[in-house]
Amino acid sequence: MTFAGLDVVARWLHLLGLLVWIGHNYANVVQRPRYQPVDPLDREAADELFAQAARREHGTFRYASLVVLASGLYMLWFRGIVAETLTLRGQFAVLGLGVWIGLLMTANLWFVLWPHQKKVLGFVPAPHAERVRCSRITFLSSRTNTILSFPAVFLMIAGAHAPMLF
Ligand code: HEM
Repeated sequence: MTFAGLDVVARWLHLLGLLVWIGHNYANVVQRPRYQPVDPLDREAADELFAQAARREHGTFRYASLVVLASGLYMLWFRGIVAETLTLRGQFAVLGLGVWIGLLMTANLWFVLWPHQKKVLGFVPAPHAERVRCSRITFLSSRTNTILSFPAVFLMIAGAHAPMLF
């Protein structure tokens, strides 16, 4: 397959990865509109089936973020605009802002949400008070990515129009 053909596949994977990753965030907002501290008597959390489902669910959207990152970086590389975009130069500033938000969202997911989520879900043993503290952090981290997704989507799409705008 040519690099140009791979660029089409990358754009497709970028959108698919987004639908899974950001779709999960939006579903979260609908299912849990308000913060609920973890309940120590929550039998479900101790249930192996629940643990398996949670591992699958959290694994799927977490790795979808890496598909978004890799496909996005490939598209930047193929277009030869990595430096211009990351340094917000000229017409690439619009896409660049979107990319920096995208990178922030990916870091938030892997270095803030996931380490705390492992304790909330019981994948890493932790006392109840620590699980409650972590559930607050995962709630705020997830909501932050949900909010950041709005400007990210807008800037990524507007970035393709920038040559006509600037
Ligand atoms: C993680 C780092 C990311 C990088 C490096 C990246 C890079 C890119 C690039 C290079 C494009 C193609 C722009 C063009 O058509 O010229 C693009 C398109 C797009 N990106 Fe990203 N992106 C990232 C994350 C995200 C995130 C987190 C979102 C949404 C929350 C997002 C949403 C989009 C959308 C909606 C498009 C337009 C797709 C289309 O026109 O077909 N991207 N991205």
